[in-house]
Amino acid sequence: MSLNHGRTYLAIPGPSVTPDRVLNAMHRTSVNIYEGALHDVANSLYPDLRTLARTAGHVAIYIGNGHSAWEASISNVFSKGDKALVLATGNFGLGWGEAALAMGVDTQVLDFGRRSGIELVQVEAALRADKDRSIKAVMAVHTDTASTVKSDIPGLRACLDACGHPALLMVDCIASLGCDFFDMDGWGVDVMVSASQKGLMNPPGLSFVWFNDKAQKLHEQANMVTPYWNWTKRTQEPELFRKFGGTAPVQQIYGLREALDMLLVEEGLDAVFARHEKLARAVWAALECWGQGGPVEMNVSTPELRSCAVTSVRIGAQHGTALRKWCETKTGVTLGIGLGMGSPEDPNSDGFFRIAHMGHVNAHMTLGVLGVIEAGLIALGIPHGPGALSAAATVISEA
Ligand SMILES: Cc1ncc(COP(=O)(O)O)c(C=O)c1O
Repeated sequence: MSLNHGRTYLAIPGPSVTPDRVLNAMHRTSVNIYEGALHDVANSLYPDLRTLARTAGHVAIYIGNGHSAWEASISNVFSKGDKALVLATGNFGLGWGEAALAMGVDTQVLDFGRRSGIELVQVEAALRADKDRSIKAVMAVHTDTASTVKSDIPGLRACLDACGHPALLMVDCIASLGCDFFDMDGWGVDVMVSASQKGLMNPPGLSFVWFNDKAQKLHEQANMVTPYWNWTKRTQEPELFRKFGGTAPVQQIYGLREALDMLLVEEGLDAVFARHEKLARAVWAALECWGQGGPVEMNVSTPELRSCAVTSVRIGAQHGTALRKWCETKTGVTLGIGLGMGSPEDPNSDGFFRIAHMGHVNAHMTLGVLGVIEAGLIALGIPHGPGALSAAATVISEA
């Protein structure tokens, strides 16, 4: 018997669930791109994107996915041969660093593995060893979506300050923005990148780079930027055509407007973060119980290092793929793969799955995913401890 009818649920960490309201806002034929309402809507996005990042700095919007924000940020601040200190806590720091290397940046990578946070002592040692201050930027990922390790960004700023090092602090918030609290100005972040398809509840296709005046100064001396990515052009041109380096993404502008209204005006950011934390805690409570009697184990054991957007789970080879397939085919729930968490032979490891709790998610969706996983564990005979659903429900009941 198939129980996979009705609305399916993509419980992967992006693209996240797009609210019907966002889809409806996008569902329109293209409007006049030269003048009129579209300009007003597009211009209204910039202050709200700054509010979202908690910055008085600047923000450029690009048509592209998260990789485009990576390349945009790199091309705007570095000159060929400049040095960057890249901090990796999973998959995505390595990816951003590889992009920088391919573009001509001399990268020094500190890899903290796939279960641990950034070791500030090691960062401090690397910065102190940089006597001639050749490191132009420290690049870190707030939430690594593969390992689901959350990084201590204020700790990194304190580390840079303690060393008196002038490098920029650049942070990837592609998985965390709108899910985990982030304070760009308060935490001393100089450049931040994000994208539309996770906490911002939109389809993939828009990316963003926030930057402050310190980053702008470096940008003015840098020599790698090409016209499309040039954030000065993207932020200082009044005309919409120039703001987007070409035709404006009409429908996505309306979709993003709707999502920002939902997040900032209706729910409010504090409530958005509280909701994410509560749902994440329900997931962790269930995982703790399952782990008492079998191979299920959260990839990140230290609660402070866990992301409120997504949780990566170790389940042992042979079980991860089987469980994901069971959940999808039997129940219509798609879980995330163990992206880049495996060996070279099995890069998207069979021994992992991920549960997203990011974006347009509520208690019944999260409890539903947990119920489906428990059904899958039973159906596939994967050993697990009791009480998971009750533990998750208890967390939700305390809302
Ligand atoms: C933390 C992080 N950085 C970068 C990316 C790359 O974004 P995209 O796949 O949209 O290019 C992702 C995608 O999942 C991500 O989670």
